[in-house]
Amino acid sequence: MKTLKVHGAAGDSNILVGEGLQNLRNYIPAEHAIIITDTNVRDLYQQDFPPCDVITIGTGENIKNLDTVRYIYEKLVELNAERSAFIVGIGGGIVCDIAGFTASTYLRGIRFGFVSSTLLSQVDASVGGKNGVNFGGYKNMIGVFNQPEFVICDIDLLQTLPAQEIYCGLAEIVKHAALGDAGMFNYIEKHCQKALALDSEVTAKLVYDSIVIKSSIVNQDEKEQGERRKLNFGHTFGHAFEKTTGVPHGEAVAAGMVIAAKLSAQRGYLPLQEAQRIEKLLAKLKLPTKIHAPKSALLEALGKDKKRQGEQIHFVLLDEIGHAFVEMISIAELETAIDDLGI
Ligand SMILES: NC(=O)c1ccc[n+]([C@@H]2O[C@H](COP(=O)([O-])OP(=O)(O)OC[C@H]3O[C@@H](n4cnc5c(N)ncnc54)[C@H](O)[C@@H]3O)[C@@H](O)[C@H]2O)c1
Ligand SMILES: [Zn+2]
Repeated sequence: MKTLKVHGAAGDSNILVGEGLQNLRNYIPAEHAIIITDTNVRDLYQQDFPPCDVITIGTGENIKNLDTVRYIYEKLVELNAERSAFIVGIGGGIVCDIAGFTASTYLRGIRFGFVSSTLLSQVDASVGGKNGVNFGGYKNMIGVFNQPEFVICDIDLLQTLPAQEIYCGLAEIVKHAALGDAGMFNYIEKHCQKALALDSEVTAKLVYDSIVIKSSIVNQDEKEQGERRKLNFGHTFGHAFEKTTGVPHGEAVAAGMVIAAKLSAQRGYLPLQEAQRIEKLLAKLKLPTKIHAPKSALLEALGKDKKRQGEQIHFVLLDEIGHAFVEMISIAELETAIDDLGI
């Protein structure tokens, strides 16, 4: 097992990569612990849960809303959960985002931790302290910054993931390497097949290296005022593809990274061969490198980008593999890029 720390304004988070769900009981600090999980994770792993109260929610992005939060509040009241209670979210990004938000608001905030059970949540969602739910058709509109006390990343849990979930997690891993660690990028290129097969040694290294990058950025800028924006590499077009075509997040981000890399090359920051390396690696990892979406819908979605400031978007570019920077790009320039790059 390897450990890392995220330093949040309201407290630290210990990330434990390679720890097992069956050891969760050793990390629960309170008498009264309550597990929040979803139906899939409960059905697969309930036998390894410590003996605690369990609140089970449904699955899918549609349940990531205030109705589900309300349902959990009601259950917490029924279970007589007091300020000393401790919440553990066991699941993917949806469970962790909801559990973190509910814990942060119930009784003005009670303590919480996560057992992260998808590749995407291990490398991204459960690290960094963003907790929240969707509202009014907008993703993650309501939420808080608050760090879980611990995050257990149990690599063995990943064996039961559907293939598409693995590809989507790998997209965020490539993102971390591309924006922050050239050595890690080379490593993924060399160990593609093992990464796809979830080889435990390779996966543990990729999860750990990803969290090193994400946590070091979050430690500099927890609330996304500067440095943290780099984590949005590939996400400007990624979110627009997700919105317009409904493709899964990781796939949309993969195609978005290819555009961001090509745009970096077009602007003279990144050698074209390096942009092509990113495209090739994503293809090897069974991720789409191009997504077709109607230009007008794409532009409309870009115009609604949460990171937009007037007509300008904070766009993440690369000047080498392993180094990202943010440049303000106007929607009009992105429109030209859509034409030039043949998107
Ligand atoms: N807070 C953040 O910083 C942050 C960052 C990135 C993404 N997110 C959020 O994360 C969410 C997506 O997370 P996700 O991809 O983990 O989705 P998810 O939580 O929906 O999990 C995907 C599916 O896998 C199932 N599952 C979970 N663990 C499993 C296991 N070990 N074996 C088999 N099936 C398993 C789930 O039940 C679900 O059906 C989105 O809502 C997104 O907004 C948050
Ligand atoms: Zn993402």
